[in-house]
Amino acid sequence: MCGIVAYIGSQNAFPIILKGLKRLEYRGYDSSGIALFDEHISCFKKKGRVSELEAWKDSVTQTAQVGIGHTRWATHGEPSDANAHPHTSNNGKLTLVHNGIIENYASLKKELEQKGYKFKSQTDTEVLVNFIEDIQKNNNSTLEEAIRFALKRVIGAYVIIVMEEGYPDRLIAARKGSPLVIGIGDGEHFLASDASPIIEYTKKVIYVNDYELAIISRDEVSLKNLGNEPVTPYIQQLDMELAQIEKGGYDHFMLKEIFEQPDSLTDCLRGRLEPEAGILTLAGVEQNLSAFAQAKRIVIIACGTSWHAGLVAEYMIETLCRIPVEVEYASEFRYRNPVIGVGDVIIAISQSGETADTLVAIEKAKEQGAFIFGVVNAVGSSISRISHAGAYTHAGPEIGVASTKAFTGQLTVLAMMAMKIGKEKGTITAATYQHLIKELGQIPEKVKNTLAAHLKVKEVADKYADARDFLFLGRGYNFPVALEGALKLKEISYIHAEGYPAAEMKHGPIALVDENLPVLFVATKDAYYEKIVSNIQEIKARKGKVIAIVTEGDDLIKGMADDIIEVPETDELLAPLVSVLPTQLLSYYIGVARGLDVDKPRNLAKSVTVE
Ligand code: F6R
Repeated sequence: MCGIVAYIGSQNAFPIILKGLKRLEYRGYDSSGIALFDEHISCFKKKGRVSELEAWKDSVTQTAQVGIGHTRWATHGEPSDANAHPHTSNNGKLTLVHNGIIENYASLKKELEQKGYKFKSQTDTEVLVNFIEDIQKNNNSTLEEAIRFALKRVIGAYVIIVMEEGYPDRLIAARKGSPLVIGIGDGEHFLASDASPIIEYTKKVIYVNDYELAIISRDEVSLKNLGNEPVTPYIQQLDMELAQIEKGGYDHFMLKEIFEQPDSLTDCLRGRLEPEAGILTLAGVEQNLSAFAQAKRIVIIACGTSWHAGLVAEYMIETLCRIPVEVEYASEFRYRNPVIGVGDVIIAISQSGETADTLVAIEKAKEQGAFIFGVVNAVGSSISRISHAGAYTHAGPEIGVASTKAFTGQLTVLAMMAMKIGKEKGTITAATYQHLIKELGQIPEKVKNTLAAHLKVKEVADKYADARDFLFLGRGYNFPVALEGALKLKEISYIHAEGYPAAEMKHGPIALVDENLPVLFVATKDAYYEKIVSNIQEIKARKGKVIAIVTEGDDLIKGMADDIIEVPETDELLAPLVSVLPTQLLSYYIGVARGLDVDKPRNLAKSVTVE
């Protein structure tokens, strides 16, 4: 999704902004641009990779100490040089970068065209910059006033940063719905869509809230709301190291993040789980135990991989807590007039904490009186701030576009939640609770052992890298793992893949099975084991190629399947934490075997900040 970087200070702005944009590449983009403010504002933008901007290096002014930059992920208008940001207004005075969508841009554009405004791009952003110019001209107002006025009329989500000719010592930014972080340096400020471009310069940051305007000079940040009232900035200290967002010797972020899982899960459990003492503490849940224990039902809202974690949680919570659970795509929930009320608990799951659909769905449920609990990875993100309570997954920054360690972090937090609530409600026995604590404590080691066998997965990946289609099947706790495996393969390798509950196969997908179709079964030993063995036989009878993820030492399936990948035994409730790992590795190795850019798959964005 679009990314924004800006700098104002006493250093050369160009390399700082360029590097910042590279740090944001992981969000997904199709074009980029930079505008620098020296004596005047000059701008360079290009379709393609951020590295294209380096071509500007020789002609660029080396003295500009103020600038704004942008990576664009097309929403209005195809990826092209003209549609790339920054955009400049008709009179040439205002230059702006924007992340988000202006929903009423068509009517605003019509108004402006009637007044004689001309547009060089098809973007909503160029409409916005000219709309601000028009207000400024008509009302003879300052830029700050014009932005405030414009944003009151704009419908949609945005972060904007604006530079104005004649005012080289000031940037103005505003946000609603899309993220913006301001890093505070010594006589300098850094602005970005997230902390990754800022972290190497400063750890002191301000997360700008919705409907706030920031006026930034070298020495000062002043925040105001759209009513022009001052807002006191809340300065936070970032708890993140640069090394955490660099590749650390791995070929790709995705592989690094897959292999980080023993550590990220240890971090997630740290201070919460003490297996020896049989203790589990989860502050966000403990402080709100009555909301959970008295919940009429729990509705989980999320998108993509986080939605799959929600499906696993449905099984966990219904089993351990006997509370009805519904799992909803945030994008559907927000528009379908759902019946929500006091007594409902919403669990919103999100890695980035910025997914636009999830954010709006939360707001909607909140308005209707539900209690909102966020399971979020990005500390300080929008979802973490608008939830009533929550628990962080502590997986660290996830840079690869495909979600891997965030997913297992989500499963771990959700398992702890289900255990805690089940204990409070008395719907699990003390023995089950203690058994799960012990099993959960062993998960990081089991994850490590599973990943140690990565070469076996690579072998399978090389064998099937040319497949045209793939089917992923699982039952029970492993059904969402099948969905997640299929999603991961699609996004990383561009192979068509479908995930199904294994028994559903007979109701349609089995028609696809022939000797060319690889079918991956997630078939660890659980309550459904015998049933899934029958499903494997049904595929073999139709000459399908069977790859099976099984519990260590499973000789029965070994005798049937074409390829076996073993994972350590654990309680079935926690099985997805190990059974998903081979599917992550499989997608990665197939993507690499096909020569694809696994960290930045085509058309995808890391943080989907538009609906
Ligand atoms: C898939 C993937 C996406 C995200 C989805 C939600 O690998 O990363 O499907 O899971 O866009 O994002 P978050 O969790 O940030 O809300």
